[in-house]
Amino acid sequence: MNASPDRYAVIGHPVDHSKSPEIHAAFAHQTGQKLIYERLPAAPGAFKTTAAAFFADGGAGLNVTLPFKGDAAAYANRLTDRARRAGAVNTLARGDDGTLLGDNTDGIGLVRDLEHRLDIPIAGRRILILGAGGAVRGVIPVLLEYGADAVCIANRTLSKADTIARDFADLGNIQTCALTTSANGWDIVINAISAGLAGEMPNLSPAILENTHGAYDMVYADQPTPFLRWVADHGIERRCDGFGMLVEQAAESFMVWRGVRPQTAEVIAALRPGSDRQRS
Ligand code: ATR
Repeated sequence: MNASPDRYAVIGHPVDHSKSPEIHAAFAHQTGQKLIYERLPAAPGAFKTTAAAFFADGGAGLNVTLPFKGDAAAYANRLTDRARRAGAVNTLARGDDGTLLGDNTDGIGLVRDLEHRLDIPIAGRRILILGAGGAVRGVIPVLLEYGADAVCIANRTLSKADTIARDFADLGNIQTCALTTSANGWDIVINAISAGLAGEMPNLSPAILENTHGAYDMVYADQPTPFLRWVADHGIERRCDGFGMLVEQAAESFMVWRGVRPQTAEVIAALRPGSDRQRS
């Protein structure tokens, strides 16, 4: 008798617009892995009960999205180093002994996308990050691990940037500044301000783009994001939104669960919002 396929899901609130089911279905098809991947909505405050029921019912792994990444870190039995540093988990994997490993693949997703699609190796680069929210905690340890020369966190609320810099000070050269005073000289500028999602753009000085080779927005949309439109207006040719990061972090989760690394380029091309295949 054939064993039933392993079950995975993305848990979040809301989760109905998550593209993770399509991405993992594409990975499973490409790698010949048999699995089921669904959406698992959980009400605010109900992460633990929803996840516990999923795993009690034989679930093999979860992707965790907003607002539950911190809850997932507390829920896991063991954390990878990168998840512990981030204080956030986006991947839960059930081991053979039934315990749950918590991992965070957001940072490696960003680094892979920067290196592949923006074609800028991280090693030796000076990187400016706009924003100091939960997403930034996930990516800073990996940027430094991959050899970034310096990372500067520019944030509206400077104290939040300072806290992150202090927490990660042992990992490398981390500086902070106010959004309005970020000095120039940054090879790569990464936007992690969630305001971009709502179509807004904070007031930024074009001076931050002097000497910049590439700009990356951690959010994505059907149309170029306000941040990417702004950098385009200021002459930055290498620009990339966060859709590739979403697919790359999913590929790393797939690797954690299945031990196989999918090819991401064809999945990004097929599923990117606004792509011909998605519209057809
Ligand atoms: P995420 O999980 O996406 O990182 P978050 O933890 O809520 O979300 O963090 C949101 C980030 O966007 C913060 O850095 C926030 O700045 P503050 O720390 O000063 O709140 C930033 N942000 C949100 N709206 C903004 C705006 N209108 N102008 C500037 N920064 C903004």
